[in-house]
Amino acid sequence: MTREPMLPAVETFVATVRGLFEQGLSADEVWPQACEPLRDMLRDPSVCEHATTWPTSPAKLGLEGKHANLLFYEDPDYGFVINGLIKKPRAKTTIHDHGKSWTLYGVADGGENVLRFKRTDGGAPGDLPETAAVEETEKVEVGPGFIDFIKPWEIHAEYNGDEPTVAVIVRSQRCGTYVQNIFYKKDKTVEQYYGPDQIPFSFG
Ligand SMILES: [Fe+2]
Repeated sequence: MTREPMLPAVETFVATVRGLFEQGLSADEVWPQACEPLRDMLRDPSVCEHATTWPTSPAKLGLEGKHANLLFYEDPDYGFVINGLIKKPRAKTTIHDHGKSWTLYGVADGGENVLRFKRTDGGAPGDLPETAAVEETEKVEVGPGFIDFIKPWEIHAEYNGDEPTVAVIVRSQRCGTYVQNIFYKKDKTVEQYYGPDQIPFSFG
């Protein structure tokens, strides 16, 4: 199957990740090793230049959580995807996990606070509970070149700074193919959903 070529920096990244899979590595070996190649891709000026063409409407594209991502690429053999989004200044995601998927959340421009949470109700990762208690464990201020490495079921949130944040997100599988949790701190309820809507867009 032919497809439209993407930016050379993106094609290099895709080829590198495919190479890791072709060596027979498992997901928990591939994804940590993909962080540095993603950082190299984000450093390439063509990526931020390309982001000036990314749509920010409909409004749901401005955030992660129960919103939408641009979908640039889905690997035909290994299933991983490349998403993008531009977050509006001071936008806040929900507190959520990414279900069983692995995520490399790369900041290309702007900056935000990345928060981590733990369950304090004794629940195990991989649960799909109706209620759960979560507590913040970490808050890190991040900027361009930062890769947030999110393991399966890791609970987190992002609070954007005063500028728009351009993010390139690599996921081990496309949203819509796995269930994830949203944790509502005020009443401890948990909602399951299938992740951000996917809006196809060219990275070429
Ligand atoms: Fe997330």
